[in-house]
Amino acid sequence: MSENQKKIWITGASSGIGKAVAEKFANEGWKVAVSARRKELLDDLAKHNNISSFPLDVTNRSQINNVFNDILNACGDIDICLFSSGTYEPKDEQSLDPDKIKNVINVNFLGVIDCVKVVEDYFKNKKSGHISIVSSIAGYRGLPNSSGYGPSKAALTNFSESIYFDFKKFGVRVSVVSPGFIKTPLTDKNEFPMPFLKTPEYAADKIYNGLVKGNAFEIHFPKGLTLILKFLRILPYRLYLFLVDKLVKR
Ligand SMILES: NC(=O)c1ccc[n+]([C@@H]2O[C@H](COP(=O)([O-])OP(=O)(O)OC[C@H]3O[C@@H](n4cnc5c(N)ncnc54)[C@H](OP(=O)(O)O)[C@@H]3O)[C@@H](O)[C@H]2O)c1
Repeated sequence: MSENQKKIWITGASSGIGKAVAEKFANEGWKVAVSARRKELLDDLAKHNNISSFPLDVTNRSQINNVFNDILNACGDIDICLFSSGTYEPKDEQSLDPDKIKNVINVNFLGVIDCVKVVEDYFKNKKSGHISIVSSIAGYRGLPNSSGYGPSKAALTNFSESIYFDFKKFGVRVSVVSPGFIKTPLTDKNEFPMPFLKTPEYAADKIYNGLVKGNAFEIHFPKGLTLILKFLRILPYRLYLFLVDKLVKR
């Protein structure tokens, strides 16, 4: 590892978007620390010279702390944290089951908050760096059959906006990633047609460019879909509810 080599920590990196982003950064010469629960998938990814595996369950706060210390010991320094872990079970979303909703909130929202808490002092002390959080356009407004996932992502986006101000004072960048439909194990469970469906490699390119070359708060793609959702977001309730009721097949 050269002294000038940039370093990124990516959670949710065992499959889908996180995995594709890890490969993209590694191929661009970055040192990449990858985390998720499935060690065997991470170890496979770590066959790449620039990737190292650090298994982790984001619902276990002390484990996050230990893993971040291990990463710092191994890498010496971290420039970007990309928190991409997430869970989604479409069948569970159709029922209003508090236990299942709590599980989604635990992984998608509280798990990310714990990760941010663990890296907070490190970034604030070094007065540089970047924390990026993978949310979703599903959090823009309430959608049908989304009793846990949408609310977890709405909370995550709001949280990212909130900590943006706090970290900015310390010279630390905070950004949020809002993907549309990307073909991953997570969306493979969907039984409805997914407009503008893109590959994980497409998402990885957009995220890499947004994190490394851009300076926007929100990295959103594909624009064909996200701009429609952004338009729906500013509509008054009466119109929004009418349109979604008509447009979304249930
Ligand atoms: N695909 C899309 O269309 C889409 C759209 C918008 C947003 N997103 C968001 O993008 C992120 C990545 O999703 P994806 O589509 O790439 O799905 P995915 O392939 O299922 O990836 C989810 C990742 O999260 C990890 N994860 C789940 N629970 C975890 C836990 N408790 N602790 C640590 N890691 C955990 C999984 O690894 P392990 O199972 O090995 O732990 C996996 O690496 C998610 O936050 C998702 O909500 C996806």
